[in-house]
Amino acid sequence: MQILKYPHPTLRHKSKPLLRIDNELKRMVREMFDLMYSNKGIGLAANQVDLPYRMIVINVQSDPAAVEEERVFINPVILRSKGSCEESEGCLSLPEIYAPVRRPQSIVLSAYDLSGNETTWNLDGLYARVVQHECDHLDGILFVDRLSPSNLMTVKEDLGELEAVFSGDRQRGIIPDDAQITARLTELEGGRT
Ligand code: CO
Repeated sequence: MQILKYPHPTLRHKSKPLLRIDNELKRMVREMFDLMYSNKGIGLAANQVDLPYRMIVINVQSDPAAVEEERVFINPVILRSKGSCEESEGCLSLPEIYAPVRRPQSIVLSAYDLSGNETTWNLDGLYARVVQHECDHLDGILFVDRLSPSNLMTVKEDLGELEAVFSGDRQRGIIPDDAQITARLTELEGGRT
C-alpha cells in the first residue's frame, strides 16, 4: 500500500459505498493508519491508497500512541453543515502544497464504524475540516479544486511539477495506463460495493 500522488486518476474516482466489513478490510484500515502516521497526516481516504471504497481514517493528533483518537468512518454522509471559515489545508497526495480553503465551520456526520454500527457525529473546527476534506476525496475532489482563483494561482507551479513527475513515472512504466487502473478498481469494487 502506498499513497498516490496528484494527478493519479484514482484520486478522481468517485467511490461506491461498502457493503461488507470483514477481517481483510480491517487489515487495510490498519495499514492506512500506519501509512498516515509515517507521513505525519491526520486523515487519509481509501482512494488515496488506490482502494475504491467510501472509507476514511482520521487521527487529529497524528499520534499512533493516541489510539483513542483513531476514527474509521465507513460510508460517511454529511447530513448538515453550518457557518463558513477559511483555513490552510494540505494533503498527503499533494506534498508540500498548502493553501487556504473556505468550508463550513461545523457539520453533522453520519457514518459506520468497523463494527458496523452507525453513529451521528457533531463536529466543528479542525475535526469538521478534516472530515470534509476526506469526504471530498471519496467523490474525487481535491482541496485544490476548492481554492479561490487567486489562491489557485499561488500553487499552479507546484501542481505543474507534480504533473511532470507523474508523466515521467508513466513513461517509465511505473504507473499503469488509465484502462488498467480502471479495470483494477472495477475488480476491487466487485467484491465489496
Ligand atoms: Co487529502
